[in-house]
Amino acid sequence: MTNPDVEALLGRSNRLGADPKNTNYAGGNTSAKGTERDPVTGEDVELVWVKGSGGDLGTLTESGLAVLRLDRLRSLVDVYPGVEREDEMVAAFDYCLHGKGGAAPSIDTAMHGLVDSPHVDHLHPDSGIAVATAADGEHLTKEIFGDKVVWVPWRRPGFQLGLDIAAIKKASPQAVGCVLGGHGITAWGDTSEEAERNSLWIIDTAARYVDRHSKPEPFGPVLDGYAALPEAERRARAAALVPTIRSIASHDRPMVGHFTDADVVLDFLARAEHPRLTALGTSCPDHFLRTKVKPLVMDLPATASVEDSVARLRELHTAYRADYQAYYDRHATPDSPAIRGADPLIVLVPGVGMFSFGKDKQTARVAGEFYVNAINVMRGAEGLSTYTPIDEAEKFRIEYWALEEAKLRRMPKPKPLATRIALVTGAASGIGKAIAQRLASEGACVVVADLDLEKAQAAAADIGGTDVAVGVQVDVSDEAKVGAAVEAALLAFGGLDLVVNNAGLSLSKSLLETTVADWDLQHDVMAKGSFLVSRAAAASMIEQRLGGDIVYISSKNSVFAGPNNIAYSATKADQAHQVRLLAAELGEHGIRVNGINPDGVVRGSGIFAGGWGANRAAVYGVEEKDLGKFYAQRTLLKREVLPEHVAGAVFALVGPDLTQTTGLHIPVDAGVAAAFLR
Ligand SMILES: NC(=O)c1ccc[n+]([C@@H]2O[C@H](COP(=O)([O-])OP(=O)(O)OC[C@H]3O[C@@H](n4cnc5c(N)ncnc54)[C@H](O)[C@@H]3O)[C@@H](O)[C@H]2O)c1
Ligand SMILES: [Zn+2]
Repeated sequence: MTNPDVEALLGRSNRLGADPKNTNYAGGNTSAKGTERDPVTGEDVELVWVKGSGGDLGTLTESGLAVLRLDRLRSLVDVYPGVEREDEMVAAFDYCLHGKGGAAPSIDTAMHGLVDSPHVDHLHPDSGIAVATAADGEHLTKEIFGDKVVWVPWRRPGFQLGLDIAAIKKASPQAVGCVLGGHGITAWGDTSEEAERNSLWIIDTAARYVDRHSKPEPFGPVLDGYAALPEAERRARAAALVPTIRSIASHDRPMVGHFTDADVVLDFLARAEHPRLTALGTSCPDHFLRTKVKPLVMDLPATASVEDSVARLRELHTAYRADYQAYYDRHATPDSPAIRGADPLIVLVPGVGMFSFGKDKQTARVAGEFYVNAINVMRGAEGLSTYTPIDEAEKFRIEYWALEEAKLRRMPKPKPLATRIALVTGAASGIGKAIAQRLASEGACVVVADLDLEKAQAAAADIGGTDVAVGVQVDVSDEAKVGAAVEAALLAFGGLDLVVNNAGLSLSKSLLETTVADWDLQHDVMAKGSFLVSRAAAASMIEQRLGGDIVYISSKNSVFAGPNNIAYSATKADQAHQVRLLAAELGEHGIRVNGINPDGVVRGSGIFAGGWGANRAAVYGVEEKDLGKFYAQRTLLKREVLPEHVAGAVFALVGPDLTQTTGLHIPVDAGVAAAFLR
């Protein structure tokens, strides 16, 4: 049975974490103190349950809590060696754990244990950080909260901050919480309800004060040429710039992107003060660990041409890298961890929006959310006073903190296709769907493109949430629609690295039966369709400078000559030769082009279900339901070929093992001697 104090703590944490006004994603932590029977002595033991490292309050469960013995945690005060060596206390937390200890204790554990109150909340609300980053934050805290909330000057999270807050609480018995300079808030209560009430009171009181007392237009007047472009134009501009921006964010290591053109971002970028404020950087440690200290800010108006914008972005990138290197060099000591890459994680383009980056889609999206938090903080602080984030040296100490480095090193090894953004045509069904599924399970972000939007979205939803797969509409034979689908992919995941030309259909007809319309349809969807998709994708891949993969799902029939197949097999042969032609042409850009020749994939295939199967069965004199087995018997291996086998071949081609291979076709046909390649 769950301890009632723990139950109350989880309920309160989930409620607080569910509302973004209270804290950023995975930001802040909460705790409760209570007693439990010690199974060793049979006596009551005082414990503290505190959100462990890394979890999110909104979805916190019991397994996300660290459980420590309060007497031992508090005993650390007697061995505490002083602020220079406070990091050693984190290792000491392990000696305070109760039982198996639950989740790993976070750096904020000291604050929760040392503050003498049964329930403690530490949160990062935009309204609270606005006060915490105002130049006269201490004075404002008094003005807004009287003596009910105390100001604690900036200090890096750790044991000393815990001692500071505990001392302040002791000295101010009337206080219900404190504002932590440059950082956030902490509140407490004798009961869980009281702690929650106090947290919300601080957050809402600060927000109301900002609303009532903010000067109008804290970000200044709108600049000429910097206002938001109309929506369609803005999206088109974003898609045109995204390959360059991905390349900028991925110079040191490939990144996945997220784009937002939310009003709050566009308004900030339209106004006069944004260059000064963006240069000051973010303040709350949670914010800049996810966004880097500063964003890269485009300094041309939205009215500039795409060509000028691309050229300027590349210049700004060079400057950004030099600036970041200089920041590292200014502050690094001989025992600092190595520089972690000098590319921006946030790229701001006035009139267009914000591009944020990360090692996967979720991280990229959350980085963007955090920069929106930072904009809200800047608006609040500037409205009341002057935004004054913590200074650069302190940011460096946190960014390159040994404990932060250790946390990064504990991260699980990325999956083989992590950071790769894939678009699979015809992926709502059969082979394409299996390919999309496999690529996603290997870590790729996947765009499922198919004729019918609903089918594409349903297939994407089968694969995972929108951080993993999205569905888009495309008719690959239509140049404009192909352009739109590639744009949708670029905006969904911030780039494009991997394309699978899989869309297709099959009409089995003899020469004399084949109409011009049959011929055109087969060639439009397969030969022309894959040409259009490859061309649109390659344009982005070349600009991204990250190489790429193009895979064609050709067919055994691209080399095998059988009856009643003129239009289909001819267009498959065209696709197969596109593989070789494009491998030759795109090699210099690091783009590999390969193909697969499947055969007899009956199960799951819409082609077979839609008449082709019945026709083939009739041609071979077997029942349609036995066609898969019939095909198997014709093969050298006597095995049936399934969509997953084709998907496996795609992964082999684009995964880590065949990196030096281009222009190749892999047969996936269980062995058909007449279709051997030579
Ligand atoms: N099934 C086999 O035995 C076999 C053998 C060799 C090659 N192939 C090839 O594999 C690919 C997939 O075949 P499948 O068996 O999975 O068929 P399928 O019918 O199950 O899937 C094909 C998908 O392509 C989509 N599509 C058709 N025209 C399109 C267009 N103009 N734009 C966008 N999407 C379009 C369809 O909506 C469908 O979802 C095809 O290129 C096919 O020629 C299949
Ligand atoms: Zn914090």
